[in-house]
Amino acid sequence: MKALTYHGSKDVRVETVPDPRIVDPDDILLRVTATAICGSDLHIYRGKIPMMEHGDILGHEFMGIVEETGSAVTRVKKGDRVVIPFTISCGECFYCNRKLFAACETTNTGRGAIVNKKDTRPGAALFGYSHLYGGIPGGQAEFVRVPKGNVGPLVIPDSGLSDKQVLFLSDILPTGYMAAINAAIGKGSTVAIFGAGPVGLMAAASARLLGAERIFMVDHHQYRLDFAQQTYGIEPINFDHADDPANLIIDRMDGRGVDASIDAVGFEAKGSVVETALTAVKMEGSSGASVRQAIAATRRGGSVSLPGVYAGWVHGFLLGDVFEKGLSIKGGQTHAQNYMPQLLEHIANGELHPEAIITHTMPLADAARGYEIFEKKQEDCRKVVLTNG
Ligand SMILES: NC(=O)c1ccc[n+]([C@@H]2O[C@H](COP(=O)([O-])OP(=O)(O)OC[C@H]3O[C@@H](n4cnc5c(N)ncnc54)[C@H](O)[C@@H]3O)[C@@H](O)[C@H]2O)c1
Ligand SMILES: [Zn+2]
Ligand SMILES: [Zn+2]
Repeated sequence: MKALTYHGSKDVRVETVPDPRIVDPDDILLRVTATAICGSDLHIYRGKIPMMEHGDILGHEFMGIVEETGSAVTRVKKGDRVVIPFTISCGECFYCNRKLFAACETTNTGRGAIVNKKDTRPGAALFGYSHLYGGIPGGQAEFVRVPKGNVGPLVIPDSGLSDKQVLFLSDILPTGYMAAINAAIGKGSTVAIFGAGPVGLMAAASARLLGAERIFMVDHHQYRLDFAQQTYGIEPINFDHADDPANLIIDRMDGRGVDASIDAVGFEAKGSVVETALTAVKMEGSSGASVRQAIAATRRGGSVSLPGVYAGWVHGFLLGDVFEKGLSIKGGQTHAQNYMPQLLEHIANGELHPEAIITHTMPLADAARGYEIFEKKQEDCRKVVLTNG
């Protein structure tokens, strides 16, 4: 079959690789119909994720048709149309029982990414996301083996919903939604979202759904801010023109700040020359440019939500400010399985239109070009979907 494989920084290729097959009795074999490129794939693409090997198949946002099921699979059958969450979870462990699916402690044979790990087990294995997370082949492919076939796959009923409408249930929609929940957003909330990429946009859509009254959004790609303004009614702040977005937000919020901030940027945040240089020589784990702004923009007693991926340490992380302001901070990989059914209902009811953010649809064969367009923000790219057949 054909699949998108990793060969080093900025070098991904669609190649012929061996077909996957059922290994465990609760596996399913999926024929992929649609898959997306995620902002998390860009961290891999830029060579920033350790423990990638030549030929690893990428892709963790995908859906398709069940082609074959292992003998123990009861929840789906051949021919079902399903969306697959990006975390692989057993459904039975301490964490899965608490619906913290991304923390599943039985699926990841890799090390995980906690630095001061001690004897704790790693969190869930992820599709196509390095050998830190289990080295599981991903879904930017014609076929993919899906472990835990009784836990992950969400069956899409025959109700006329297109692939594009439901594909993002796999990752960025639950991620944006959990980011809004972690930010404790409710009716009348005020919120600042840093990053107008796909995750920031899904967070804005979710914040609206949950009743947010005022949403500021910070980025420097004006075309992304313009789209968010038109679609979700955000108040745009372009950090190329406003040198201190957090202070602007505070000024517009009675000198206090917003109830909550969502950092949908993560460890590759732009804005600090020193941090970018330190990160390049591995003296810094993450750029703190965005999280510092999020902490600064949030009022006392508010919440800071971190859907953006962070790795290791951030120097100049103002823990004292977190304490002084009495902030709550919550982040992490998304417990996708916990939110997928309710979000499917919102899509079916016409309350959420995640497909609106798609700008590029292309065949899997063109995936390498899709990565380049998305990474370089060419052609006003917001989100790339790859299709098969
Ligand atoms: N928690 C999870 O489970 C989960 C799931 C999916 C994605 N993610 C992460 O979410 C983040 C965003 O993903 P995406 O798909 O939207 O990616 P993206 O790269 O398309 O978007 C990031 C946006 O942030 C902007 N940005 C950069 N520096 C900034 C700064 N200092 N302030 C404000 N904006 C800044 C960029 O211009 C870009 O538009 C990534 O870190 C990704 O890995 C996490
Ligand atoms: Zn992702
Ligand atoms: Zn588990």
